[in-house]
Amino acid sequence: MDFIRPQAAVLARRLEEPRRFIQAVAGPRQVGKTTLVGQVTQASGLPTRYASADGPTLRETSWVEQQWEAARLEAQDADRRGAVIVLDEIQKIRGWSESVKRLWDEDTRNRLPLKVILLGSAPLLVQDGLTESLAGRFEILRILHCTSRTPAWIKPQAPSAEHGSDDGPVGAYAEGSPR
Ligand SMILES: Nc1ncnc2c1ncn2[C@@H]1O[C@H](COP(=O)(O)OP(=O)(O)O)[C@@H](O)[C@H]1O
Ligand SMILES: [Mg+2]
Repeated sequence: MDFIRPQAAVLARRLEEPRRFIQAVAGPRQVGKTTLVGQVTQASGLPTRYASADGPTLRETSWVEQQWEAARLEAQDADRRGAVIVLDEIQKIRGWSESVKRLWDEDTRNRLPLKVILLGSAPLLVQDGLTESLAGRFEILRILHCTSRTPAWIKPQAPSAEHGSDDGPVGAYAEGSPR
C-alpha cells in the first residue's frame, strides 16, 4: 500500500519490525494524525486496539491501564508479529506518562510483543511526558500541515526543537544534534 505522507511509511515499517520504541505521533489538531494511524494499523493486518481519551467523560490513568490490559490479551493471542495499542489524545490524561512507562517496561521485561502508538498535540506530548518519564523509549513522528512551504516532514526525536512553531523553516531540522 502506498501512503501519501512519508510518516505513514515510517510507521508501517516500525509495525513490521520487532517492538523497540513507543511511536509518538505528534502534531497540531486536524492535521490527520488519527486518520493516518488508522490507515497504517489497518494495512498492517496486526490486531489493533484503538482507544481515545477524547471523550465526554474525564479519563484517568486507570483508563490507560484498562485499555493496555485488554491489548495485552490480544498480544498474547497474536502470532509473533504481535499486536498494537493506539492511545489517541493521550495528553488529556493527567499523569499518563508514568503509567505508560510502567506498562511499557513491564511488557519489555515479559517480552510481550505489544507495539505502542501514542497520539497527541506536539507541545503537550513532549512537555508533559515524553522527555521526562519516557526518555530513551520513544520515537517521534511529527505530522505537520502540508503546505508548499512546509512539506510533510519526518522529524526524528529532537525534543529540544519541539517548542517551536509547526510552520518553522525546514532548515531548522537538525538530525543527530547533540543532546
Ligand atoms: N490524507 C488526508 N487527505 C484528506 N483529508 C484528510 C487526510 N487525513 C485526514 N483528513 C481529514 O482531515 C480531518 C482531520 O483528520 P484527523 O485524522 O481527525 O486529524 P487529527 O487526528 O490530527 O486531529 C478529518 O476530517 C479527516 O477526514
Ligand atoms: Mg485525532
